[in-house]
Amino acid sequence: MIIRPRRLRKTQKIRDLVRETDLKVNDLIMPIFIDETLNNDEKKPISSMPNQYRFGIDAAVKECEEIADLGVPAVILFGIPKEKDEIASSGYDDNGGVQEVIRKVKEKLNDDLIIIADVCMCEYTIHGHCGIISKDGEVLNDETLPILAKIALSYAKAGVDIVAPSDMMDGRVYEIRKVLEENNYKNVSIMSYSAKYASAFYGPFRDAADSTPQFGDRKAYQMDIANSREALREIELDIEEGADLLLVKPALPYLDIIRLARDNYNIPVGGYCVSGEYSMIEAAAEKGWLDRKKTVFETLLSIKRAGAEFIITYWAKEVAEWLSKN
Ligand code: PBG
Repeated sequence: MIIRPRRLRKTQKIRDLVRETDLKVNDLIMPIFIDETLNNDEKKPISSMPNQYRFGIDAAVKECEEIADLGVPAVILFGIPKEKDEIASSGYDDNGGVQEVIRKVKEKLNDDLIIIADVCMCEYTIHGHCGIISKDGEVLNDETLPILAKIALSYAKAGVDIVAPSDMMDGRVYEIRKVLEENNYKNVSIMSYSAKYASAFYGPFRDAADSTPQFGDRKAYQMDIANSREALREIELDIEEGADLLLVKPALPYLDIIRLARDNYNIPVGGYCVSGEYSMIEAAAEKGWLDRKKTVFETLLSIKRAGAEFIITYWAKEVAEWLSKN
């Protein structure tokens, strides 16, 4: 035998030398749930997501500081409002929980932590859909756009670095870009959830963010789980509309889409390792069926290997702790 690939697997040093992909703390973004119904310094466990919490305003600020101290470069904020209505008005309230946390964290940490804010209506609407609803229950595209733009503008005013529209309405990146430019927030970036699938893996999040649709599902706006060419079309449109970064979501069941995005476009691509991906591994580990730490590393590394530059993951904080001890 002349060729023996095993020679390069002989020792840890040689394996490290030829390793193609790395998971670094710089790759990670930590999601934070801000719950306006909690006391300022309260944090409340999320039952469907072990070791994850909803935070009151000050507790969220403290959490952001801890995350920054660990070297995690970014957080993505989600809001759970005191009051919901048909038009998500708490979402664009300049004194809302997310806005408050953005202001406070920026004041303390300035550029030491990138703040991303998820832009969507579903956490703020009574019906739990990501847009305005017509009389017959249709999620109206064009009527939703100005509201998304208002939410994004309100986050920009508070000092956000990046807005991340996750609603999947057509034309929303352009509407948001336009409003940001008109109001002189030229340097606020848009991270578009370009390829967001109508996935069953969001189940635990909807518990966490209290955003389960009260009727129907999201299939008329989120993408069909069977499609990949459609993802390329969505990405192309978002780039034309002014997206700076893009996301594929969920990550693990859609690694092929991450690879397609990476190979076909030149803007940074991220994978969102969603709540269901998190909780299924947590549950199996709790039962002793999987080695938790190894499975988490393998999962996140696979997302990098597929071509993602960055990963939104509920393990970000813990992985940063693990990496710092290595
Ligand atoms: C809001 C939004 C959702 C997630 C991120 N932004 C829920 C949904 O679309 O139902 C899911 C994140 C996760 O599951 O971790 N539209």
